[in-house]
Amino acid sequence: MNRQNPEEKKQFVREKFSSISKDYDFLNSLLSFNIDRYWRWVTTRMLREFPEGPVLDLCAGTLPLALELTRQAPDRQVLAVDFCEDMLRAGIKTLPRDDRPRRIQPVSGDGEKIPVAGSSVWGITVAFGVRNLSRTDEGLREMHRVLKPEGKLLILEFSRPRNPLIKPLYNFYLNRVLPRLAGLISGDKEAYEYLAGSIAGFYEPEELLQMMREAGFARAFRRPLTFGIVTIYVGVK
Ligand SMILES: C[S@@+](CC[C@H](N)C(=O)[O-])C[C@H]1O[C@@H](n2cnc3c(N)ncnc32)[C@H](O)[C@@H]1O
Repeated sequence: MNRQNPEEKKQFVREKFSSISKDYDFLNSLLSFNIDRYWRWVTTRMLREFPEGPVLDLCAGTLPLALELTRQAPDRQVLAVDFCEDMLRAGIKTLPRDDRPRRIQPVSGDGEKIPVAGSSVWGITVAFGVRNLSRTDEGLREMHRVLKPEGKLLILEFSRPRNPLIKPLYNFYLNRVLPRLAGLISGDKEAYEYLAGSIAGFYEPEELLQMMREAGFARAFRRPLTFGIVTIYVGVK
């Protein structure tokens, strides 16, 4: 299947996330040895100057980052947007019995046409979502549109480690071990082959930063974590 066509990619991505939605959280913790929680914690900490104002968690999936955003700031409201309703539903089912569900509003919507008014949120977080967008530049422009002036964008995304010792180990794990293991558990090996392929085919960190600048973001910088397996990108409107 040719996934170069943006609409085809969108449909493929939505179907794949729908198919793995019930196992997504468990597999995330297993496959990342639980480090994903640390990555979301660091990302959320970088938004601490906006403890109250509405925050948009884009490509929110099963809501792990929305939960962390509301855990770190007891007055924060989060709008959690994703175009795969099965992912949102899976997340809603596992929400804790505290006040956080009240402060998280899940919304079905496309990251390339965000269903939010312009200049309306103080912060945007996107964890492992930008890589899945069909038109990254369009998504970044939309993120810029909905942020208030001085609002902050935080993108947490996989990158490719450059350390010569780590790189071959990581590639072996990503391409050989992960799709088989995740395929066995979720029953959808293709979804995890897509994961490996989408990481390999994603922009270099400097390219993504440049795209953020072209979309209008100022003071853009990046912070690699865990040998560069992931990178946090920061930009201000
Ligand atoms: C890897 S999951 C990340 C979920 C969550 N942010 C996390 O930290 O685990 C990527 C999510 O992006 C969503 N997604 C991909 N493309 C999208 C788009 N164009 N608009 C909205 N959501 C999208 C998928 O449905 C999926 O739930």
